[in-house]
Amino acid sequence: MLPSARHLLAIGTCLLAVGVPSTAVAAPQSVHRLQPQTLTDLQTSMQGEAFANASYTFYADQADREQLPAVADLYRRTAKVELHEHFHEEALLAGVIGDEAANLTAAIEGETYESTTMYPQFAREAEQDGDQNAAALFAEIAKDEAAHNQAFKAALRVLQTGEGQVPAPPQADQVPVPAGPPQVHSARTLANLDTALHGEALAFARYTVFAEQAAQTGDERVAELFTGTAAVELHEHFAGEAVLRGFVKDTRTNLRTSIAGENYEAWTMYPTFARRAEAAGDLDAAELFRHNSRDEAGHARAFQEALIHLG
Ligand SMILES: [Fe+2]
Ligand SMILES: [Fe+2]
Ligand SMILES: [Fe+2]
Ligand SMILES: [Fe+2]
Repeated sequence: MLPSARHLLAIGTCLLAVGVPSTAVAAPQSVHRLQPQTLTDLQTSMQGEAFANASYTFYADQADREQLPAVADLYRRTAKVELHEHFHEEALLAGVIGDEAANLTAAIEGETYESTTMYPQFAREAEQDGDQNAAALFAEIAKDEAAHNQAFKAALRVLQTGEGQVPAPPQADQVPVPAGPPQVHSARTLANLDTALHGEALAFARYTVFAEQAAQTGDERVAELFTGTAAVELHEHFAGEAVLRGFVKDTRTNLRTSIAGENYEAWTMYPTFARRAEAAGDLDAAELFRHNSRDEAGHARAFQEALIHLG
């Protein structure tokens, strides 16, 4: 198994641990009925939705740079659907959104893995491979994740003991991601950057829905902590890695990449997941996968029209 696949699996396993109901997690009833394969498929879908949301956010900025406001607007509207409809509904069905304590515990698990295992290893490997810029970025992000971990732990203590105060949210440095080539050399660094980009996109999406859950319960300080941390994951970490990866290209190329991704989700991924969920008797999941499949086909058409319009 490739290192990147191993890391993705570890992130997925973290997520699975959150998705499985326990005494600490007020999971919806549907989680009890979901077959393991359906839960795995929901996690894969959530990863895809989170990554599409993050990608489209930066493709929108690039369209603005090229003075293509209609394309930028299409990307921003589509990004919202991926996050606030597709990701959110899948997370609800998978039982990933628990009560505040469960969400903080899940966040602490993810931050611990990233700060003590994933990023230190990526930094060492980039150093060995002569990609000093990536080594420096990974080491810096590892420190940020350790700080996120401490802040979430402090917030959980406040919740459990009623003592102290929920920390103020971190401030994100907004890193611009202009179109450009990769700035690293080794295939291993590129693969690690891909894994890291997926992890950051997922962290952003999870913290965004966790913030909404906290706001609904009236806990504004925890909501602000999740929202502020989410902004760091996307606008600083994902963005910094995207620059080194050469992730953003010119808008025509970005549109072609987006069309391929949407078509894969619309015609292969979601239909496969829907058939499996239906066969397993997970009818809510099958319906959601089918609904999302139709939406993705619409996204592919809209991007295709935008591409044709550009000539
Ligand atoms: Fe989607
Ligand atoms: Fe973090
Ligand atoms: Fe991060
Ligand atoms: Fe989509």
